[in-house]
Amino acid sequence: MTQHEAIDLKRYIRNIPDFPKPGILFYDISTLMREPDAWQIAMGRLARQIAAWEPDMLAAVESRGFLTAAPLADRLGCGMLMLRKPGKLPGATISHTYDLEYGSDTLQIQADAVKPGQRVVVMDDLLATGGTLSASVTLLQKAGANVVGASVLVELTGLGGRAKVNAPVKTLLSYD
Ligand code: PRP
Ligand code: MG
Repeated sequence: MTQHEAIDLKRYIRNIPDFPKPGILFYDISTLMREPDAWQIAMGRLARQIAAWEPDMLAAVESRGFLTAAPLADRLGCGMLMLRKPGKLPGATISHTYDLEYGSDTLQIQADAVKPGQRVVVMDDLLATGGTLSASVTLLQKAGANVVGASVLVELTGLGGRAKVNAPVKTLLSYD
C-alpha cells in the first residue's frame, strides 16, 4: 500500500451542527478542498471509480457537483454538462420537477446537451435523501442519456437515499 492509499480523507471533512437548519449536521467539504494534497488524492480516487464506467460525459449537479465534475472531466478526457436550477441555462431546456419534504424543486438541462445513448455519469458532492441525485438521473434520461452511474464524495447511508437513484451509485466516504 502506498502512503496515498492509506490516507483517511474523513479527517478532512468538517461537521457543522445545526446548518442550514436546526437538527441538521452539515458535512463540509470546504476543509478537504483547502488541503491540496488531500483534494488531489480525493480526485484520484474518484477518477479510478468513475473510469470503470467509461463515460462520454460527466453531468455536474448545481452547485457543489461542479466542484468535482470539472477536474474529473479533465482527468478522464471526457466532456461535461451542467444540471442547473431554473432560469440559468440559455437556449432550449428540458426540466424535471421533483418533490421535497416541503414543496418541490426543479432542475434543467440544455436540450442538446447529450447525444442519444451517450454514456453519462452524474456527479454531486453529497447523497442524503437521494432526491437531488434521483431527479438528476431522471432528467438526464429524459434528455436521451444512458446514465451509467452516479458518483458522490459523501454518502449519508442512514437516510437510504441510494435506493431512490435509478443508476449504480459509487461513494468515496460513507457515514451512518
Ligand atoms: C445539497 C448537496 C446535494 C443535495 C443532497 O445541495 O450539495 O446536491 O443537497 O441532498 P439530497 O440527497 O437530500 O437531495 P443543495 O441543495 O444544498 O445546494 P448546493 O449544492 O447548491 O449548495
Ligand atoms: Mg447540491
